[in-house]
Amino acid sequence: MAAQLAPLHYDVIVIGGGPGGYVCAIRLGQFGKKTLVVERDKLGGVCLNVGCIPSKALIHASKVYSKAKGGAAIGIVANDLAVDMAKMISWKDGITSKLSSGIGQLLKGNQVDVLTGSARFAGPGRLVVTKADGSLQEVVAQDVVIATGSTPIQIPGFVYDQKTILDSTGALALSEIPMTMAVLGGGVIGLELGDVFARLGTQVTVVEAMDRLLASLDPDLVRPVQQKQAKMGVKHLLGHKAMSWQQLPDGKAELKLQDSKGAVLKLVVDKVLVAVGRRPNSSDLGLEAVGLKPNTRGFIEVDECLRTAIPHIFAIGDVVGQPMLAHKASKEGEVAAEVIAGHKGARMDVACIPNVVYTDPEIATVGPMLFELEAQGKKTKTGRFHFAALGRAMTANAGEGFARVIADEKTGVVIGVQIVGAEASELIASAGLAVEMAATAQDIALTVHAHPTLAEALLEAALAASGQPLHQLK
Ligand code: NAI
Repeated sequence: MAAQLAPLHYDVIVIGGGPGGYVCAIRLGQFGKKTLVVERDKLGGVCLNVGCIPSKALIHASKVYSKAKGGAAIGIVANDLAVDMAKMISWKDGITSKLSSGIGQLLKGNQVDVLTGSARFAGPGRLVVTKADGSLQEVVAQDVVIATGSTPIQIPGFVYDQKTILDSTGALALSEIPMTMAVLGGGVIGLELGDVFARLGTQVTVVEAMDRLLASLDPDLVRPVQQKQAKMGVKHLLGHKAMSWQQLPDGKAELKLQDSKGAVLKLVVDKVLVAVGRRPNSSDLGLEAVGLKPNTRGFIEVDECLRTAIPHIFAIGDVVGQPMLAHKASKEGEVAAEVIAGHKGARMDVACIPNVVYTDPEIATVGPMLFELEAQGKKTKTGRFHFAALGRAMTANAGEGFARVIADEKTGVVIGVQIVGAEASELIASAGLAVEMAATAQDIALTVHAHPTLAEALLEAALAASGQPLHQLK
């Protein structure tokens, strides 16, 4: 056994330096708690290093390329246009390393220590950290926050080698554009990264087990994305499951797919991106040493104060369950820090958590889906406005999609907002504020929106939901 140094003592230990853990630690530092973050990899976690941020960089870069390529319609002629993939990847890597070191500075500035290594519980308030060189360090604290995130699920037989069978991390590091790619899973990651490679010129085939893409969203929100992908040449094999694969002599992968009736289809591609969901990182934490048992799906259950079943152990972010979103993890991190610091009334109590899919066009929502409200028998009034009728959208050559405001039929209070269209990820912020403040559709309608802006789609949808449509007929 490697040498173990004298224990280090803290008020709070946060396991994991992702958007949940590092935000929690900053707040704890601000509250005067002596805090340690244990992180086995880079600060910023999956989101910053191999998830949200790098994917958004490649989404942006690939859009610049495809817009320039398709610019003839608006008078831009770009001959000899080319992609330098290695340069694109190094630009993306520069962004992530800058942001990661920024988090290090923020933690330092808030008197938070960082220890690089993997932490395991040795008992209540006691953890052993295995460092990269194999040496061990015991750390002790009154409170522990588990913020260990999640890992891509693996389909049986599809072992990630990051050469042919890729997870999102492998796909975001490709230094050459593949000619052909199968994307297994037509969910968020599959469609965002499928879009990137299709724009860069890869022939993409999305294989989705269910009979529709992004099945958690209302179908009319997904339709513009599916249509645009199809226009780019993306093939959607819905109702198909990937069963197995073999490497052909030329290095390509031959996939065996099966449809819902059992018919088998073969597909030959250069790369396979597997994006069939993520599972919580709860198995290597030595939770048995403190008597904490994750549920059958591996998630650690918490109350509204982010407390687990064991006193003084908290959990936040992907490891506690859906939605697996960075901003949800950060909010939970803030709340857990407040609870630990003894702030009265601190609890996770948000009216809505926005959800964004960075496809083209983008999809952004707050609140429940229409199909969920219908299933609950909830009486609503809705207003919708199409981007095609919006001056600013036309000038941005972005006429696809619509904004929809869903309000309570009686009170007019906004229950949800759904946008599919250009800049939906930015437009959803004011909709989130409306839901959080229990604003009515009339409140949005009374708010003067600048003209010409894409945000007018939200205004017009709110006017329609209030029974006062302006730039559309009743
Ligand atoms: P997902 O849950 O969004 O989609 C997985 C898809 O794979 C589902 O449609 C499922 O039916 C399909 N599937 C499962 N097994 C299959 C099989 N054997 N063959 C074919 N299809 C199969 O999961 P995804 O895209 O991997 O994302 C994981 C998590 O990461 C999401 O829950 C999301 O919360 C988070 N995320 C969020 C982003 C955002 O907010 N923009 C971006 C990326 C990830």
